[in-house]
Amino acid sequence: MSKRVLIATDKPFAAEAVKGIRSVIEKAGYELVLLEKYTEKQQLLDAVADVDAAIIRSDIFDKDVLSSAKQLKIVVRAGAGYDNIDLDAATANGICAMNTPGQNANAVAELVFGLAVYAVRNFYNGTSGSELLGKKLGIHAYGNVGRNVARIAKGFGMDVYAFDPFLSAEAIEKEGVKAVKSVEELYTTCQFVSLHIPATAETKNSINFELLSKLPKKALLLNTARKEVINEAEIVKFMEERTDFKYVTDIKPGNHEELAAKFADRYFSTPKKMGAQTGEANTNAGIAAANQIVDFIENGNERFRVNK
Ligand code: 3PG
Repeated sequence: MSKRVLIATDKPFAAEAVKGIRSVIEKAGYELVLLEKYTEKQQLLDAVADVDAAIIRSDIFDKDVLSSAKQLKIVVRAGAGYDNIDLDAATANGICAMNTPGQNANAVAELVFGLAVYAVRNFYNGTSGSELLGKKLGIHAYGNVGRNVARIAKGFGMDVYAFDPFLSAEAIEKEGVKAVKSVEELYTTCQFVSLHIPATAETKNSINFELLSKLPKKALLLNTARKEVINEAEIVKFMEERTDFKYVTDIKPGNHEELAAKFADRYFSTPKKMGAQTGEANTNAGIAAANQIVDFIENGNERFRVNK
């Protein structure tokens, strides 16, 4: 019987990406199953029950889903962050979990500047704003998205700094970006900070009052990473004190209503996470995921595996 590959996307890929994925899957002699815009967890539980592989985005693959997927051998998160997959449960159920690093990074990086210009031009309210040229930008975590942010920032004539706990200063500086020694130094130095950290036990709630307090006057925080990294109660307290500070995000915070009501002229969130929502990013990440699945099934290639 031919292998069945599920695309389970609450937030669907562009049609061109699905077409590209289908062509890879069918060329391998497999069958593609599509579950888009599902509204109930049960639909996902039913869909995973008889498939061999799955391609997902931010879709939650928790213990329930992974243990219902009796035939599943591989799940590929078409994207970078895999905090939506319970990795221990995947391992316990003999399922290989992968991501597709870098494939949607440019799309996310471009949105950082869409948000930045919108914020410094006072959300296009017609009043006099400011420019990015010559301003210090701090890139918090210098991975695939951070690198693309640095490349674009240089085009805007920004003074680019980065901090990454897993990279040496030399590795960052050889790309023409100034490395700082600590996260605190990044926040003390830069008027603009763009977050590119994953949501892990260490990073959750780490963007807190104390860290934000280090930011210079007229600071702007850009979040295209994960909402969980922000300490939501403390950012409200900080924004109450620091009336010069703006916060723009692509991931609607848990306290969005409160932020929108209190700081209408200094806070903005996209209605639905859209950093990676381009045809190009969907196609790159989706086709990479499909190729990784075929290579795993046919040749046992586990290069992008993220669980044990
Ligand atoms: C990622 O981790 O790749 C990005 O956050 C994009 O997520 P999405 O596929 O849910 O838009």
